[in-house]
Amino acid sequence: MAISSVWENTDWISRATPLVTIFLGALTAAWLVQTGLNYARLAAIPIVGADLGGKEQRRQAYLAGARKLYNDGYKKFKNGIFQITTSRNATIIVLDPKFLPELNKLPNSVLSMEKAVDESMETKYTKIETHVPIAPNTITGKLTPALSRLSSKISQEVEEVLALELPPSENWQEVSIHHKLLRIVAMVSGFVFIGPELSRTEKYLDAAINYTLEVMQAQRAVSELKPWMRPFFSSRLPQLKNLYKRLAEAEDFMQPVINQRKAAAANADGDKPDDMMQWLIDALPKYPDANSQNLTKVQLGLSFAAIHTTTLTATNAFYNLAAMQEYIPILREEAAEALAENDGILTARALQSMKKMDSFLKETLRMAPASMASFQRKVLRPITLSNGQHIPAGVTIEMPAVSVNSDPTIFPDPLKFDGLRFYNLRQDGPKESAALHQFVSVNPNSLTFGYGRHACPGRFFAANEIKMILTHVLLNHDMKLADGATERYPNIEFASMSIPDPSKKLLFKARV
Ligand code: HEM
Ligand SMILES: *[C@@H]1O[C@H](CO)[C@@H](O)[C@H](O)[C@H]1NC(C)=O
Ligand SMILES: *[C@@H]1O[C@H](CO)[C@@H](O)[C@H](O)[C@H]1NC(C)=O
Ligand SMILES: *[C@@H]1O[C@H](CO)[C@@H](O)[C@H](O)[C@H]1NC(C)=O
Repeated sequence: MAISSVWENTDWISRATPLVTIFLGALTAAWLVQTGLNYARLAAIPIVGADLGGKEQRRQAYLAGARKLYNDGYKKFKNGIFQITTSRNATIIVLDPKFLPELNKLPNSVLSMEKAVDESMETKYTKIETHVPIAPNTITGKLTPALSRLSSKISQEVEEVLALELPPSENWQEVSIHHKLLRIVAMVSGFVFIGPELSRTEKYLDAAINYTLEVMQAQRAVSELKPWMRPFFSSRLPQLKNLYKRLAEAEDFMQPVINQRKAAAANADGDKPDDMMQWLIDALPKYPDANSQNLTKVQLGLSFAAIHTTTLTATNAFYNLAAMQEYIPILREEAAEALAENDGILTARALQSMKKMDSFLKETLRMAPASMASFQRKVLRPITLSNGQHIPAGVTIEMPAVSVNSDPTIFPDPLKFDGLRFYNLRQDGPKESAALHQFVSVNPNSLTFGYGRHACPGRFFAANEIKMILTHVLLNHDMKLADGATERYPNIEFASMSIPDPSKKLLFKARV
């Protein structure tokens, strides 16, 4: 009956204007053909883990740790295209990095990073902003060029913060290094991002560290709701309420500082603060969009992008150093030499000369990339790859970064940690490709920081910060694994994440 009543209701249209019917019919037919085609085209793309059984089994395998799935797909499907079933509902197509150059030419209206993040973070409900142009532009335009000017100031801050958080101890002392590094990284980043007024205050540290965790909790809670329920029930979730409370609290203590800075800028007589907060305030007139104008949210966004990513990388590096003691004298000697050649100051030039440490850090990220997949982009309009493969609109594409990192044709003996791997490539390989082997370099063999115009703009800052922390710790402390452990603490892997076990401890003792 329902169907016939629909026809009855629309019947007058066809009587009145047969053209409309034809037009609607053609549209429907076109839609059906297109949808059918998309299904057929998707069905033609193989799914990794098909032998596991159904979709639910593949989803469980992904959640338990996706490394094997990415590696299996990367090895098995030689034309470099496969589907992976993730914890999300969206169709995810994994592409070989050989497609990167052609993909990188496509505009944001075809391949969208923002839309991919919107989807994975449920931004419609969690109210995370993905379009905040002032943030990446100010990082690229102001922060990165300022690094050489600010190096010795930041290094000084690292020393002071380390003296507070990791004071030299006469005897071996147990330290929850992940927890310590969160505070150290938040303070040092905060010194540059928000300024000295707030960077060491507990309320700033709490916000800078916990906001990310609260976002992740909110995202998870929303994604566990059935899609149709989300518009009605999301805002009642306690995790969402926490997040809104966090935004309001942050606004309460950041806004006065923002206002003071703005007032000082208005009657500026030369000496302005030289930090991100100031550069953001100065840039406001150029970014009329509401997200860019809301500096509290911009600051929280910076924390979100910077604090945990940098801390996890540094923690991995410390676990590696403690487990592979042979690297300690090598890196320490290099650091001491770099300092000696630069009047004892950790200048940008001193940092640049520390190529062994750079290599050690790159190898650390090669073995334990923060995310197994990278270059996640939503396909907004259908594309055809150079090999003829059609990719329909609506799917999300990504690169199997973790599989590239363990490809023996790219990195010989890939399961071995070789801290000087990239140092040797830089020294012994052709001069013109030396830059490819730096920690911050982004290329099809090095995808940890993404690729193309949205590749992480903060990686230069992160690299400097981690190197400064490592240098000062190495010069002042010895370190080793705790509880008589002899093996590197294994990372915890779940879904597409690989994180150093935050519950592990290291032992530190002052050098004499
Ligand atoms: C070791 C630490 C870090 C890692 C591993 C990391 C990783 C990434 C990755 C994988 C992306 C996505 C790139 C793409 O899809 O092409 C990204 C984007 C981004 N990162 Fe980082 N990041 C780190 C540190 C930082 C820091 C310290 C900042 C801030 C100073 C930052 C700010 C950003 C921003 C703003 C974006 C978005 C760029 C855009 O929208 O165009 N990141 N990062
Ligand atoms: C997943 O997608 C299917 C088909 O596209 C849809 O029927 C289902 O409701 C979605 N489930 C979730 C949890 O989003
Ligand atoms: C922030 O996180 C830390 C560590 O997990 C926790 O001890 C603290 O209570 C959190 N603060 C808030 C306000 O949730
Ligand atoms: C910034 O955004 C938050 C959260 O959406 C909002 O509550 C606040 O009023 C905004 N602040 C300004 C100054 O626009």
